[in-house]
Amino acid sequence: MKITSAEFVKSALAPAHWMADGRPEVAFLGRSNVGKSSLINSLLMRKGLARTSNTPGRTQSINYFLINDSFYFVDLPGYGYAKVSKSMRADWGKMAERYLSKPEGLVLCIQLIDSRHNPTDQDLQLNEWLLANDKPSVVVATKADKLSRTQLQKQLKSTTQVLGSREILPFSSETGLGREKLWGEIQTAVNQSA
Ligand code: GTP
Ligand code: MG
Repeated sequence: MKITSAEFVKSALAPAHWMADGRPEVAFLGRSNVGKSSLINSLLMRKGLARTSNTPGRTQSINYFLINDSFYFVDLPGYGYAKVSKSMRADWGKMAERYLSKPEGLVLCIQLIDSRHNPTDQDLQLNEWLLANDKPSVVVATKADKLSRTQLQKQLKSTTQVLGSREILPFSSETGLGREKLWGEIQTAVNQSA
């Protein structure tokens, strides 16, 4: 896809501030620090558009980016940050479920899992929820550049099994691995909704 424009639109804390203009939305989901904001920047080839950080839990609100004036990338807060309280964790689940259950707009959920580790319980829960609720979704294994080719293949194979044989797309924001393939999935989802 040719990106003619990509701009940060807004950061929304409350559902009342969520976008509702009918444009398709592609949501990025995954645990804190998994590389959501980096992946968005990598897809858009804009280095600092989505704020990235070494401090987990950086993205607290829902951030909207408008692409080519026609669809949104939605950067959701990360889950599973160990230092947040139990009630904050429950809040994440409620917020995510509410956002993901919106009747309109959402055309694709991109679930990010760290390629170096086995999926966490929350990764599995989210994955099951997406499947059980028939949400169109893709699973991406991030930070693939941090593993050797052999390690990556091994990890992809075991994660695929754990997730019930879903195809997992290896991705690296550093090298651009997986970029074209993921854009293909996004383009298909956006076009289908048109
Ligand atoms: P929250 O907003 O806190 O939920 O985190 P996030 O999922 O948006 O992660 P972010 O993109 O901020 O990345 C977290 C850290 O991982 C940063 O230090 C990034 O530079 C690093 N990182 C992200 N993607 C990659 C990647 O593909 N390769 C490597 N080597 N590092 C990455
Ligand atoms: Mg982020």
